[in-house]
Amino acid sequence: MENVRTENRDGVLIVTVDRPKVLNALNAQTVNELRQAFEAAREDDAVRCVILTGGGEKAFVAGADIGELSLMTPITGKATAERGQRIFHSIERFPKPVIAAINGFALGGGCELALACHIRIASDKAQLGLPEVTLGIIPGYGGTQRMARLLGKGKALELILTGDRIGAEEAERIGLVNKVVPADQLMATAEEMGRKIMSRGPLAVRAAIEAVMSGSEMPFEEGQFLEATLFGLLASTDDMKEGMKAFLEKRTADFKNR
Ligand code: COA
Repeated sequence: MENVRTENRDGVLIVTVDRPKVLNALNAQTVNELRQAFEAAREDDAVRCVILTGGGEKAFVAGADIGELSLMTPITGKATAERGQRIFHSIERFPKPVIAAINGFALGGGCELALACHIRIASDKAQLGLPEVTLGIIPGYGGTQRMARLLGKGKALELILTGDRIGAEEAERIGLVNKVVPADQLMATAEEMGRKIMSRGPLAVRAAIEAVMSGSEMPFEEGQFLEATLFGLLASTDDMKEGMKAFLEKRTADFKNR
């Protein structure tokens, strides 16, 4: 892969979008490489958590590649949006935790990529926004849907219609990011949170992601049905027995992903 780097640090896969000359803009090749990276990580038992970040000092991802977008036709435009939506959906439904470490500009497709992650941690230098209307388009990688679900329609429309960029503190205040930390602590904070999640029962973590991400797209009753089914399913695992036994024996659980 040319534009996406991966490094497995003892179970935490760091996925870096790395085209710093264009602030890590997502051209078709980069989107495809992201797909490859996540497909490989899905099957790889040595990967237990993913942290997604941007190469260089300035950007997480500054959006879709405007050079490429400027050439789109109605047909290729629709296909581009559908391909991006499919890949971002697979990130959102990834069975292991995915944390966005937002190290700079997260604009347009970059903001949409962060929205597809399970948890967002931002450096105090980060700026986020959906500036598509300034280019005469709208977000096309799920941003209109995920932003409205995360923030409510009012705030989502304000950001989408103005195209304004907001700083990390404001993003935290409105719930767009979970946490803001000094730039030099970003990766350590993301890794620490990833490792904390990795210390929990992995099958339970997987079920929790599914219950929240799939369940919240269902009518409430069906979401609750999914929750109860997954809850019951976990009773069949060795990890449940170990987790409860360890509690009763006042020791740390040794989960085996079984
Ligand atoms: N697509 C393609 N190229 C991009 C890009 C994008 N989304 N974002 C930045 N770049 C390129 C710039 O064209 C520039 O290339 P050049 O050095 O060949 O001129 C390089 O990255 C550096 O960007 P520059 O604009 O000079 O940096 P800046 O610090 O002055 O501004 C931004 C940073 C992020 C504010 C500005 O680059 C920007 O507005 N980018 C577009 C954001 C956007 O609209 N994204 C949504 C796309 S749907």
